[in-house]
Amino acid sequence: MKINKLKKKLTEIFMNYKLSKTHAKICSDAIINAELVGASSHGISRVKMYCDRIKKKVINPKPKIRLKKISNSIFHVDADNSIGFVAADVAIKQAIKSAKKTGLGFIGIKNSGHYGLSGYYAEQAVKKNLIALCFTNAPPALAPFGSKKALFGTNPICFGAPTSLKVPFIFDASVSIINRGKIRLAAKTKRSIPKGTALDKNGQLTTDALKALKGVQLPIAGFRGSGLAWMVDILSGVLTGSNHAGKVRDPFDDFSGPQNVGHLFIVFKPNLFVGNYSQRIKENIKRVKKLPKTKGTSDILYPGQNKYKRYKKNMKGKIKIPHAILKDFENL
Ligand SMILES: NC(=O)c1ccc[n+]([C@@H]2O[C@H](COP(=O)([O-])OP(=O)(O)OC[C@H]3O[C@@H](n4cnc5c(N)ncnc54)[C@H](O)[C@@H]3O)[C@@H](O)[C@H]2O)c1
Repeated sequence: MKINKLKKKLTEIFMNYKLSKTHAKICSDAIINAELVGASSHGISRVKMYCDRIKKKVINPKPKIRLKKISNSIFHVDADNSIGFVAADVAIKQAIKSAKKTGLGFIGIKNSGHYGLSGYYAEQAVKKNLIALCFTNAPPALAPFGSKKALFGTNPICFGAPTSLKVPFIFDASVSIINRGKIRLAAKTKRSIPKGTALDKNGQLTTDALKALKGVQLPIAGFRGSGLAWMVDILSGVLTGSNHAGKVRDPFDDFSGPQNVGHLFIVFKPNLFVGNYSQRIKENIKRVKKLPKTKGTSDILYPGQNKYKRYKKNMKGKIKIPHAILKDFENL
């Protein structure tokens, strides 16, 4: 489907589900962006889920989002169970405003929902020549190291920095070997998942997406990944007053109440300590790129470059929607 047509349709769907035009556009922009950067696990495939949650009154389509000022740099956002995209939009705008004014924007968000890709928000700050760290917790997927029960989410860690080059540095990664959206999408489109990424409910390695969803996902780097997932749960859940320690509801399967996801955005000026950040970051990237390369590598990429290339390429074409997802989309 053509990008603009899809954007228009998405906005209409969200408006039919009682979102204001402004909020509907915020959601459709974020979803289309996910498709364009190649993260279809966080794109159209999730629209039915968001609409189901609105219908079941566990996402509030008309939220009264409140910003509590703690200082010129620090704000606490109560998202009033809005769809996550809208809460994150309000929060990143405030973080950018505070960072421009004081050097730092430190924003905790509670009572939010799944907001898609962390990198989408970091990019907005980076475009304003700011550095950004974005954290969010997520429903249980990973077993803490030493346990056989899932409790931590795939809790992505995201760091964005301006590079003074065409492409910003955006490192945005789940702490699981693959993100849960990819397993959901594989289940929906009846495909298997890569070996070594998940265990079934009996603790056996599985490539069956449905079995993986009922079992546990494996963290990156063993106890280190488990520790990072825990850190993100503390930063975005414990700190902000949101659900944490396995209490964030699964958006697809649990309609017993709002998710109450937490996010934390930390945005700051890159020249707080040195006046020549632009020169230093360019020098930094240049030195890495000049290193001898492994066989088959033509360019050492920095995080964000791969997504930028996909975005540029996909902007020229149409967005392909798998048949199973298209059916849901047409029903909506
Ligand atoms: N909202 C949520 O609850 C939630 C939960 C989990 C993940 N997510 C999102 O899902 C998205 C995908 O996460 P993921 O873990 O699958 O990411 P990924 O594995 O595709 O990429 C991780 C990072 O590695 C970089 N990278 C990839 N190939 C590279 C290469 N060859 N050289 C250098 N860098 C390279 C990417 O630019 C990216 O920054 C993220 O945007 C994340 O925020 C959201």
